[in-house]
Amino acid sequence: MEKLVSNWYGIVQPLPENYIFPPDARPGKLSTAPSIPNCNIPVIDLGSQGHDRDQIIQKILEASQEFGFFQVINHGIPDASLNDAMAVFKEFFELPLEDKEASIHSDDPNIVCKLYTSGVNYDWEDVHLWRDILRHPCHPLEKFMPLWPKQPIKYREHVAKCSTQVRKLALSILELISEGLGIGSAYFNDGVTQQTLLYVNYYPPCPDPSLTLGISKHCDPQLITILLQGDVSGLQVFKDGEWIGVEPLSHGLVVNIGHQLQIISNGKLKCAEHRAVTNSSNARMSAAFFITPSPDCYIEPAAALINASNPQLYKGFQYKEFSAHFYMNQGNTEVALEPFKL
Ligand code: OGA
Ligand code: NI
Repeated sequence: MEKLVSNWYGIVQPLPENYIFPPDARPGKLSTAPSIPNCNIPVIDLGSQGHDRDQIIQKILEASQEFGFFQVINHGIPDASLNDAMAVFKEFFELPLEDKEASIHSDDPNIVCKLYTSGVNYDWEDVHLWRDILRHPCHPLEKFMPLWPKQPIKYREHVAKCSTQVRKLALSILELISEGLGIGSAYFNDGVTQQTLLYVNYYPPCPDPSLTLGISKHCDPQLITILLQGDVSGLQVFKDGEWIGVEPLSHGLVVNIGHQLQIISNGKLKCAEHRAVTNSSNARMSAAFFITPSPDCYIEPAAALINASNPQLYKGFQYKEFSAHFYMNQGNTEVALEPFKL
């Protein structure tokens, strides 16, 4: 735990060797503005669902097909909930090391609440990521909340509230997607949305952001992700050979399609590669809520989307088979889907 970047950054200059990525994976010169005109990640206003539902569904589907990413505004989650959650995450990462350790210490034999730096396999990594991460499941609350950090004192209250609201929003977006795809509005009930996993990423100011990454290129393996990215930019999406920045919107939320939704939609919806870059002046924080199937959940392309002109692209499998393969290959986007293609 003493390896956490948040404990030693600022003491060590310049960027240590084992944080320097190979030249082709480095962000290089960073511009925060997207380099292709009209290629911004779509922003969708959810506030008019009462009378514009069909139009909103269309926008969500188009964004999911073209980018695999969109942002939502007027999503119904009060600003105060998002602010409170982000504030307790920040407070957590700013605790002294021994308080962070004490805060997550528990007798849970499965250790569902974890704090680490870089990736899960730190000792095997050639290059480390410039980030610390706190992660734990959120749903159902009564099962998992007692295992969450004990400090800051308001952590459980604020994160419970925010995660409940984010889950509700995610389920309502999934309902719009299922309607748009024509697979029945109840498709995403039950096992396929059983879990909410929260990953809080903390990227301290970095001595040389051009040489390293906060998160390297990946796709999210779960169903759908809702991300709070605060007001510091750093998230980038790979589109048509370019990295596009996802600019922070005040109280906007980033939504992206995970591999399971890509598979259920039989490839209609896109699961886009993305990464996080660091910056030298401000710490950045993001909170990713992953709506995730239960391990035993059977995933397959929805029957309604398969016909003579749209042959089935993926075979069925249990989610745990997918996640085992994904993590064994360290999320390598080239091979993640290979065993599941028909
Ligand atoms: C993730 C992720 C991006 C960010 O946690 O999977 O892509 O902006 N995070 O931190
Ligand atoms: Ni991601």
